[in-house]
Amino acid sequence: MNKKITLLPGDGIGKEIMESAKVVLNTIASEYDHRFSFQEHAIGGDAIDRYGTPLPEDTIQACEDSDAVLLGAVGGPKWDGNPPHLRPEKGLLGIRKKLGLFANLRPVQGFSSLLHASPLKEEVIKGSDILIIRELTGGLYFGRPSERRNDGKEVVDTLAYSRQEMERIIEKGFQSAQIRNKQLTSVDKANVLESSRMWREIVEEKAKEFPDVKVEHLLVDAAAMKLITEPNRFDVIVTENLFGDILSDEASVLTGSLGMLPSASVRTDGVGLYEPVHGSAPDIQGKGIANPLGMILSVALMLRHSFHMEEEATEIEKAVNECLEQGYHTGDLDIKGGQKVGTKEMTQAVIENLTTKSVSNSI
Ligand code: NAD
Ligand code: IPM
Ligand code: MN
Repeated sequence: MNKKITLLPGDGIGKEIMESAKVVLNTIASEYDHRFSFQEHAIGGDAIDRYGTPLPEDTIQACEDSDAVLLGAVGGPKWDGNPPHLRPEKGLLGIRKKLGLFANLRPVQGFSSLLHASPLKEEVIKGSDILIIRELTGGLYFGRPSERRNDGKEVVDTLAYSRQEMERIIEKGFQSAQIRNKQLTSVDKANVLESSRMWREIVEEKAKEFPDVKVEHLLVDAAAMKLITEPNRFDVIVTENLFGDILSDEASVLTGSLGMLPSASVRTDGVGLYEPVHGSAPDIQGKGIANPLGMILSVALMLRHSFHMEEEATEIEKAVNECLEQGYHTGDLDIKGGQKVGTKEMTQAVIENLTTKSVSNSI
């Protein structure tokens, strides 16, 4: 198969883990006789420095013309003082909105060899397998009718959702639960927010179309607590943009590290964007120690969801599992013993496990 992939490395460790993604994709291409052509474009702080904008027009065009988009991370202290339109994060929000990627899927699945890498008790996290579905193009991130403002005396951020925006993400939640363990947890703040009250109403309506899915409502504050005290109670969690952002970083603790989590941002059909959940990690950038597994697992999600390459995706996931079983890990994983390695070595360990055949790719 021939596939055109737009690569948006971005900033900080985004660039470092994108190298890992390329090596993995090249290995899959040669093992399975696929052709992946890469076109690299600027986004975030890198794009601000080179083109004076966090989301250049030709980056948008390239994404729209490709079969899938892979993104590293954006942001860093260098741009934190910039005005709102010149912030790296504006580029990330912009590309999600431009491509209409309203559903962000964040699977949280612990690898058994990492059970002891979590600060949580093994018996609490064992067997947890959660899919967080985060609404990605509405809510507080995209204020309307007024944009955010700050006149020095008062600041305004607005939270708006149309019924249709809520319906489509809630429907995605039900559909996903139906093909998993048929349990949907809807997370909101309906005791305070009007938007959450409409959200809850829509969940109740939709539930009638999915009678085989068991639904529960949780308020976001309680959900945050239960996520780490009773993670096994969850199957699919569906929630609005900001709650989903916060809960997914929290849920990463179940896997041992934020560096482990992949994500897929999709719309009903058309191009998807894949990126790890973590950010540009300025504190470790340039040291060669970033965990590439969240990115490598995002590559697997891309192969599965955008290219329907189920076997190739599973091979990558198996290879990640095997190298963890062999004791390879980066420093963000709190593991005694085993082999603590850097980004490149970790990637190489995945490559070696990816196939028993001789691998010509090296990094
Ligand atoms: P972060 O996710 O970059 O880092 C949080 C902590 O986790 C840091 O200690 C970091 O070293 C560690 N970490 C994250 N990923 C890791 C990995 N792969 N391997 C090892 N350790 C890892 O969050 P932050 O520090 O709050 O934000 C830094 C910048 O990243 C900000 O500018 C923020 O806006 C941006 N950000 C971007 C994205 C994205 O592009 N999708 C996501 C989150 C944050
Ligand atoms: C994420 C990030 C982004 C978000 C930031 C960088 C805008 O935290 O992808 O989770 O909040 O969506
Ligand atoms: Mn986040």
